[in-house]
Amino acid sequence: MKKRIHLNAFSMNCVSHIQHGLWVRDDTRQREFNRIEPWIELARLLERGGFDALFLADVIGTYDLYRGGPETAIVEAVQIPANDPMPLIPAMAMATEHLGFAFTSSVLQVPPFTFARQISTLDHLTCGRIAWNIVTSYLPNAGTNLGLGGLPPHDERYARAEEYLEVAYKLWEGSWEDGAVLCDTARGRYADPARIHPIDHAGTYYEVEGPHLSEPSPQRTPLLFQAGSSERGREFAATHAECVFMFASMRSLKASTGVVQDIRARAARRGRRPEDILFFQGVTPVVGGTEAEAEAKAADYVAQSSVEGGLAHMSGSVGVDLGAIDLDAPLASLETDAMQGVVRGLIESAPDKSLTFRDLVRSRASGQFITGTPEQIADTFQAWHEAGVDGFNIVYAVTPGTFADFIEGVVPELRRRGLVQSDYAPGTLREKLFGQARLSARHPAAAYRR
Ligand SMILES: Cc1cc2nc3c(=O)[nH]c(=O)nc-3n(C[C@H](O)[C@H](O)[C@H](O)COP(=O)(O)O)c2cc1C
Repeated sequence: MKKRIHLNAFSMNCVSHIQHGLWVRDDTRQREFNRIEPWIELARLLERGGFDALFLADVIGTYDLYRGGPETAIVEAVQIPANDPMPLIPAMAMATEHLGFAFTSSVLQVPPFTFARQISTLDHLTCGRIAWNIVTSYLPNAGTNLGLGGLPPHDERYARAEEYLEVAYKLWEGSWEDGAVLCDTARGRYADPARIHPIDHAGTYYEVEGPHLSEPSPQRTPLLFQAGSSERGREFAATHAECVFMFASMRSLKASTGVVQDIRARAARRGRRPEDILFFQGVTPVVGGTEAEAEAKAADYVAQSSVEGGLAHMSGSVGVDLGAIDLDAPLASLETDAMQGVVRGLIESAPDKSLTFRDLVRSRASGQFITGTPEQIADTFQAWHEAGVDGFNIVYAVTPGTFADFIEGVVPELRRRGLVQSDYAPGTLREKLFGQARLSARHPAAAYRR
């Protein structure tokens, strides 16, 4: 089989994730997010479709910048209510055999010692199917919820992330040697104290003695995702990420391949190889039996999408109250501390630089859409893949409908072309993606091994 297209489903343990306003429809199960059954059914569906993973986003604060408060986000259910993604995973893992589970956790959220143990536990319970989306948070409310007295500045958040990873790598990779677990029932010795080590980390933000409380899990370090796109974010991705999530508009292949080339070049300067990082583009396929049917479906989604919800979301993302500024001002006039990369990305991806934010919100609702027959959508996926994009994160308009239509319509076509797997490779999530259970010796985590 040729180099295959990797597929993730993008969702969040909430009512309205990305495409706002559509939660009211009869053909979506977004309002059932509090129940476990829809999640289990989704996981089973994705595994039938050969998906690599379900990718769960998360935030730890409200979108309260728009018009100076959280009211719009609350009314529109823009990522509030939002439940913790982590508890969904064991239930979905029980119902599947191969599907991976990537979930988001901010480095501001829990101490690295606690987080490393949670990850190890999940990696054990799922036989190595866990991935972590490393985020640094961008909502000011996240900072005030966590006793930080506000959100630390952008580059300080990345400095914290560097140290957070150092602590986690020491716990996952260095604390327990291979062979530390004896499980010797004849002599009554479970583990060998000579092979289990404290980490004695004393840094700027964290002090952790150790040892790690979990024994080594199948992957030790989980598969690492990252999605920052600022200068600092790209450096971070080039250093640590095994999978990078991109959100350029589907109208601009050049913007995505530019990110791919830039991060791969930065990774090479760190002694990593191009094939050490996989790049995933966010996309919403809108499938129809005919092109006209698909176009009508997409038009229906756009007509029902909420500009208010989109503005509340975007205000939080870019760190600017878009309710207070002139929505008809050109994009280039924004300077912000939060999500610099995204503002830059938005401006770069706008075909017309005189585009305003009002235009952008409208067009953003459909900017991720790829609309057409299964063959047409497969053609686009194939073209992006041939241009260097390794895979796609499928963003739903309605759930599970967007995923189901794609799996029933487009996946068979991509399988016919030899581009989507029909069977899973054995082993952990990292083995399925990279052919090895543990991080390569080229990754910085390897330096902490004994
Ligand atoms: C496609 C995409 C998905 C993201 N998902 C999340 C998320 O679930 N939770 C979160 O806190 N941040 C998320 N982020 C934010 C990024 O992780 C990062 O913190 C943000 O882009 C700011 O970093 P930057 O300035 O380097 O771009 C996402 C960003 C992108 C582009």
